[in-house]
Parts: sequence; structure tokens; C-alpha cells
Amino acid sequence: MSRTPIMAGNWKMNKDHLAAVQLVQDLGSALVDKDYDPASTEAVVIPPFTDIRSVQVLVEGDKLPLVWGAQDISANEDGAYTGEVSGAMLAALGCSYVVVGHSERREYHAESDELVNAKAKKTIEHGMTPIICCGEALDVRKAGKHVEHTVGQIKADLAGIDSADVAKLVIAYEPIWAIGTGETATADDAQEVCGAIRKAVEELYDAPTAEAVRIQYGGSVKAGNVVEIMGKPDIDGALVGGASLKPGDFTEIVTFYQ
Ligand code: G3P
Repeated sequence: MSRTPIMAGNWKMNKDHLAAVQLVQDLGSALVDKDYDPASTEAVVIPPFTDIRSVQVLVEGDKLPLVWGAQDISANEDGAYTGEVSGAMLAALGCSYVVVGHSERREYHAESDELVNAKAKKTIEHGMTPIICCGEALDVRKAGKHVEHTVGQIKADLAGIDSADVAKLVIAYEPIWAIGTGETATADDAQEVCGAIRKAVEELYDAPTAEAVRIQYGGSVKAGNVVEIMGKPDIDGALVGGASLKPGDFTEIVTFYQ
């Protein structure tokens, strides 16, 4: 298997642009001190929009072993869309990744799979890689419908995206009940759904596409559970919230292979 693991830190709505500088500096030195090898894992920071320029200047200026992305994107091109940030703007800031369809956007901003699909396509159009989030709420899991629900989201989110682009993108399975709660899905629970997502990609496209697409798990990932999670065959990385705000913890996660 040739998939490079990807550890992405979703800062959510935390850290202003000054605190972002501090966090990236601390993270950069912690990674260097730990002899982090970017060929072994990709380390991504996903700050709020207001921090992206600070992160870009610092990472490029100090040649830190990090890439960066954004937490959202407009489905529209530049124009009269107050409050939105376009793909062209994010690409101009050197973003490599854009998170689309995070459960917090789906819940607090009523984002539908149709919109998530449009945002994923817009990300690709602008030469960046979407990290498409999916996952079930607690009631769905209790009803035993988590696989069906999550695979259904992914099928809708990938509609009309061709296999060459799907092979390059990232899917993040984040069970909502495990986000920020300290409650982690067991590694087997995570594998069950990530495996089902890969199978669905194979059915929708073909085996090489399914073999290439990277699938992350997200939900209370920490230094203490990352090794077990990464031991599962269909899990290629983590989308990390709380622990990504602590440079030491995120470094441990990024260098899980050591
Ligand atoms: O996008 C990352 C996320 O929602 C998980 O957050 O704090 O449970 O790691 P956390």
C-alpha cells in the first residue's frame, strides 16, 4: 500500500493570528526536535481564515515541515457573497487542503450533501484537495445505521467527481458523538466504517481509486490512541481537533510511526 498517512489539525475557531504564529513556531520546532520525516506522514494545519496568511508567511519563511489548509470554502466564484471566502483566495494563500462538510458546518450552518459536493468540486477546480467529512450522530449509531448513513453521505458528496480526482482526495470519518467528547470510537469501530467507505468508493469507481483514496478517522484522537487507530488497514490518518492545539501532542500524533 502506498498511501502516505495524513495528520491534519483542525483548529476550529481557536487562535487569533498572533496566537497562530506562536503555535506554528512551537509546532515547527517540536517536529524538528523529534526528527519528523515529512516523507513518512503529511502534517497539515488548518487554522481559521484570519490566520492563514500568518501561517503561510511563517512556514515558507522558516521552511517548516508543514502544509496548511482552510476549514471551509465558498461554493461560488468571487463576487457579491458577503462573508464568504473563495477558492481563488485560498489557492492564492497557498492552501493545499480544504475541509468540507465538517459536522459542525452541517449542523450549525445547515450544509447539505449537495452543498458539500459543490464545495468539494470548487476546491478541486482551484487546484486544492478536499478533506470531505462524514459521520453519524449518536442516535444513528444506536439504531445500527452508522455504516449506511455514512456511506450514503459519501456517495452524495462525491457525485460527479471523476475517479482521477477521487483518488487524490481525503475522506474523514468523524462520528459526531466522538468529537470533542473524549469518547473515541474503538479502532475496530473506526475500521468498520472506514472499510465500508473504501468499499463504496470501489463500487462507485474502481479498485485502484479505492486503493488510492486516503481515509482519516477523527474524534478525540490523541497521542495515547493514535497508534492503535493507525494500525487499522483502511485508516490513513487523523483529523484532529483539540489535540492539534497542543504542539507536543500534535507532534506525537504526526510522528506516531516512531
Ligand atoms: O475535525 C476534527 C474534529 O472534529 C475532532 O475533534 O477535538 O474530538 O479531536 P476532537
